[in-house]
Amino acid sequence: MKWAETADGRIAGIGNKRLLISNEYTNRLVHKWRSEEAAILVGTNTAFYDNPKLTTRLWSGTSPVRIVIDKELRLPANLHLFDGEVKTIVLNSLKQAEEGNIFYLKLDWLDNLSVKICEALYNQNIQSVIVEGGTRMIQNFFDAGIWNEIRVIRNTALIAGDGLAAPVLPAGIKIITESRIGTDSITIYYRS
Ligand SMILES: NC(=O)c1ccc[n+]([C@@H]2O[C@H](COP(=O)([O-])OP(=O)(O)OC[C@H]3O[C@@H](n4cnc5c(N)ncnc54)[C@H](OP(=O)(O)O)[C@@H]3O)[C@@H](O)[C@H]2O)c1
Repeated sequence: MKWAETADGRIAGIGNKRLLISNEYTNRLVHKWRSEEAAILVGTNTAFYDNPKLTTRLWSGTSPVRIVIDKELRLPANLHLFDGEVKTIVLNSLKQAEEGNIFYLKLDWLDNLSVKICEALYNQNIQSVIVEGGTRMIQNFFDAGIWNEIRVIRNTALIAGDGLAAPVLPAGIKIITESRIGTDSITIYYRS
């Protein structure tokens, strides 16, 4: 689980305004982290509001398979995620199909979606995933107890004032490493 937050614990501004939280060096570190995982997962709102590419363009190595949740297939086709540059899996409730580099996987949309997501990835031979937000997506995994490691980048010099709160760290965690790049602190947590 990975996110970047402001000094006052926000991951987005009011009305999902994108905040430039991490600096150019921590951004590059994030791309390195991406290159070390098989897949990268984001929630519907993150795909819509941030329009991320989720690639490793600031680092060498292979971009992970992109995975996005889009229950009703309402995300616009012009998002970067659908540009075909990298294999992309769309977890949804409506269709099972393969369209070029876009793979639609139909899931039973039951209560425990986090478990369903993991089962779907396992069935795709995907053995590791970095979840890059947003809050609801990550919180759902925390609530289900499904996570191995948490990486939080905190811009200690940036105050958002208001906006979307970061996920609540689960109980029973311990800090493994803390480092700093400029005004960004990088904290890695494991289960204690
Ligand atoms: N600073 C950062 O590191 C960072 C990183 C990523 C995103 N963000 C910000 O976070 C904001 C979006 O976060 P968010 O919390 O609003 O949304 P989100 O987690 O991106 O997406 C939430 C939506 O995804 C679907 N979803 C995903 N996982 C689900 C699950 N396990 N169970 C049920 N539904 C699930 C639901 O869509 P339906 O309701 O349609 O079913 C839900 O409304 C954006 O403004 C973005 O800028 C910041």
